[in-house]
Amino acid sequence: MKVELVKDINLNCYDSVSIISAVDSELHEMTDIKNMADEINFRWKSGDSLVLSYKSEKILRVFCHGLGPLEELTSLVFRKTIGEAMSMINKNKVNRGLIVCDDKVLSREGYLNILVETLNLMNYKFEIYKTNDKDKEFELETISIYNPIAINKKEEAKLIEKGEIIGKSVNFARDLINEPANVLIPEELAFRAEKAGKAFGFKVEIKDKKAIEKLGMEAFLSVGKASVYEPRLIVMRYFGDKSNQNEILGLVGKGLTYDSGGLSIKPTDGMVSMKGDMGGAASVIGAISAIAKLKLKINVIAVVAACENVISGSAYRPGDVIGSMAGKKIEVVNTDAEGRLTLADAVHYIIEKEKVNRVIDLATLTGAVVVALGTVRVGLMTNNEDFYQDFMKASETTDERFWRLPADDDYKELLKSSIADFTNSGGRQAGTVTAGLFVKEFVQDVPWIHLDIAGTSSAQETKGSTLKGPTGICIRTLVEYASVISKSK
Ligand code: BES
Ligand code: MN
Ligand code: ZN
Repeated sequence: MKVELVKDINLNCYDSVSIISAVDSELHEMTDIKNMADEINFRWKSGDSLVLSYKSEKILRVFCHGLGPLEELTSLVFRKTIGEAMSMINKNKVNRGLIVCDDKVLSREGYLNILVETLNLMNYKFEIYKTNDKDKEFELETISIYNPIAINKKEEAKLIEKGEIIGKSVNFARDLINEPANVLIPEELAFRAEKAGKAFGFKVEIKDKKAIEKLGMEAFLSVGKASVYEPRLIVMRYFGDKSNQNEILGLVGKGLTYDSGGLSIKPTDGMVSMKGDMGGAASVIGAISAIAKLKLKINVIAVVAACENVISGSAYRPGDVIGSMAGKKIEVVNTDAEGRLTLADAVHYIIEKEKVNRVIDLATLTGAVVVALGTVRVGLMTNNEDFYQDFMKASETTDERFWRLPADDDYKELLKSSIADFTNSGGRQAGTVTAGLFVKEFVQDVPWIHLDIAGTSSAQETKGSTLKGPTGICIRTLVEYASVISKSK
């Protein structure tokens, strides 16, 4: 799909036109269409849509989408509407589509960018395992955006490029999540990270099992012990701010290429989606990709401890006591609480060996976060108020939504062990909080944000600007957070 901005409209060039809000325009065709919509009482309310046919030289399909009163318009509503417009375009097998949006909307700061970004995000498909062409989706050729507002060509190209870079990075993450676990084994995930490094411009170091053993990452190794596929520690480095070498943002992504639960085995229904248990890894790889490609002035190191949680004679067991790179001893009471074990070592590694001075970890960590927040908001925990405020500020323009959970030490009692430093599961109470607190045990006093994306990493259905399937959640906010730092330099 090609996205272009156009200053004039010749309706005959298009198969369809999508009109976003009751456009105030000099173009007589738009006035005609507005009158047609008026006649059948279409009110352009947010969420409302209408299909019309307009006769010019040929019959043109017209999709009308309401935005509601402009005083009430938020970027979130705008994204949703553009998402719905794109769904309509896709459903109708449009080859060349035109989007016409009210000038008053497009001239708002950031809105043209949101538009380009959303078009790219809505154009994602994963069809490599469909062998019959008939089952594949229709390929959209061009989307033109009518933008009479004067911006120079260079600025215009930059804007489209930014939307494309973010779109590509999110779509790359989506591909990783869609890949089945028999293909995307830890070694393959590492290989794909390496490929992303070459394409987007960051360095990748892959540590094999021997190197991981040498580092003493016993918690991480225990989780992957039963698999025939050896674990990999993937270290990605991007130094865009060489004059501040000691200021490094650390990203850690949970990278379970499959989570069967281990000996604390999951029921089949809970297991089918567990190829997606590397959603955190996919998001950090996507984020560092976009940050590098945009050449932001920031240093970022991302780490993924990739392994598979399955069963064999060498599996770790409920009841085992295992060590960790930090030296803390853990009583494993549930082998399905494996993510936090891998994160503990990855977080310790990134702080001790890579010397980052801020850490954000992302993980499809708990079913409990789905119970608490559903699929709408990411669960967040932190140990640092300023870091939290800056991160939340970045999320305002990206429309990814977060909700903070408490991190009181009192909850730690739920992780008490009678024979080791703590257990790896606090049971049913406050399941998301105890998982976060487990990770917090390994962050020392480094500013830290923990993001539990178990509910938001994949979507059940296409709705608004969310496509069914993997979402690449948090990439947009991480990139925006990095942009803000970059601009302040
Ligand atoms: N990967 C799962 C969490 C998950 C659940 C992700 C649903 C996506 C959708 C995680 O490893 C897990 O199994 N967590 C357990 C923890 C429990 C044993 C303390 C859970 O949530 O049940
Ligand atoms: Mn698990
Ligand atoms: Zn898991």
